[in-house]
Amino acid sequence: MPRKKSTTKKQPQKKVQAKKATTKKKVVKKVDLKNVDPKKEKKKTKGPVYTTLRGMKDILPKEGVMWQHLYHTAEDIAGAYGFSYIETPILEQASLFVRSIGKGTDVVDKEMYIFEDKDGSKVCLRPEVTASIARSYINHGMHTFPQPVKVWYWGQMFRHDRPQAGRYRQFHQFGCETFGIQSPVVDAELIAVAYNMLRDLGIETTVKINSIGTPEDRENYIVELVGYLRSKRSYLSDESKKRINKNPLRVLDSKHEQDKAVMEEAPQILDWLSDKSRGFFMSVLEYLDEAGVPYVLTPTLVRGLDYYTDTVFELYTEDDEGSQSALGGGGRYNGLVGQLGGEETPGSGFSLGIERVANILKKQKEELEKQEDYKPEKPGGIFFAQLGEQACKRSLHLIEELRRSGLRVYHNLAKSSLKAQLETADKLGVSNTLILGQKEVQDGTILIRNMESGIQEVVDQKKIVNTVQKLLAK
Ligand code: HAM
Repeated sequence: MPRKKSTTKKQPQKKVQAKKATTKKKVVKKVDLKNVDPKKEKKKTKGPVYTTLRGMKDILPKEGVMWQHLYHTAEDIAGAYGFSYIETPILEQASLFVRSIGKGTDVVDKEMYIFEDKDGSKVCLRPEVTASIARSYINHGMHTFPQPVKVWYWGQMFRHDRPQAGRYRQFHQFGCETFGIQSPVVDAELIAVAYNMLRDLGIETTVKINSIGTPEDRENYIVELVGYLRSKRSYLSDESKKRINKNPLRVLDSKHEQDKAVMEEAPQILDWLSDKSRGFFMSVLEYLDEAGVPYVLTPTLVRGLDYYTDTVFELYTEDDEGSQSALGGGGRYNGLVGQLGGEETPGSGFSLGIERVANILKKQKEELEKQEDYKPEKPGGIFFAQLGEQACKRSLHLIEELRRSGLRVYHNLAKSSLKAQLETADKLGVSNTLILGQKEVQDGTILIRNMESGIQEVVDQKKIVNTVQKLLAK
């Protein structure tokens, strides 16, 4: 029969083909294994390995405790001084910052992450948040709220700067802004909040302070300054030469050594302040004296953003090499809300650069760990270990009970070996571990193990919350 014939004929053919295919495959595989770098091979099959963009970084779990500590310190101090939390979008209309920070500043001219939205409008990732909050103040009619309006914030900012130590393209700021009150005590309070927060964190800073007066004071001063700079042009750096016409105030705080020498003899803005601005500034300093905040009068301090009027300040700390880096800065901006289309409203504020603060704390911790008598701080909380299926199920109930009473419970319910779980508890550094086995599930008890001595105590499961609370309070 033709069918049978064809089947019998095909079968051996198939086998041969299959054999050939297997042999072929084997040969190819052998060659591959010999010649292919496994890393490259992995890349080929899984696609490119992604990394963060230049100047941006991940905050890893091991840094989490410090970042949370920083956030809570900021939250506590801002709350204690009566500031309410505000959050504005990361993406804003680009012109918001061009108008407020000003053309001719580094931030606007060089550092904005600016791009076209789908409707063709220009948007940008916020380089700072003071202008956004002024926008929000106008949009939500905050001038009708009881004044002053005091707000605090925490979030990411973006500046396309050349990345270097302490300078990133994405960074976090914590800051406070006070709107609606034209009083020197507001400026002093803001400086005190920034200074005291850093001191609470164990960071001593120097507050550099200056007044740049009203725009009218500045206009007169700039005429004088430009005249002086032109007379010293040949001694200035190329960057400062360019700035004489574009942004002469920035020549004052130039980082170039040759410019610093020229600036020593430059006319000082304090001599050009109106009586009103001078009086205001003197009062700020008096309030700072009262608040116990030390400061250094710095006539060359002008800040890099155009919206400031009167008080400007920066908080500095010295790094290991003795060079200074600004942990934060701020000042008064009486014209900002009006300039953005709102009613003329006084305002003042500051921002701290959180990465810079975190870097200092990290260094301090590393120094501490090097000391011989250093003992790592025990994390507040308890480890929960379980053995066997029944114990694992019961654990979920007990862990929830502990958590509801406000206790922190570390665990790894996916692990069944007691040894492995105790090792994890040890690595975490907790002082006690709860152990629930088959026997304990049946008789309604649980073991509490002191991780240092290894001594274990049997406790009634009903008393577990109370017992753990007492243990952790010790
Ligand atoms: P700012 O001086 O431009 O002021 O920034 C404040 C702080 O943010 C700096 O002192 C620094 O610690 C940190 N910071 C700035 N740029 C970077 C960067 N590229 N990488 C890491 N950290 C950086 C302002 O932003 C104003 N909005 C402050 C203010 C609030 N004025 C009134 N209210």
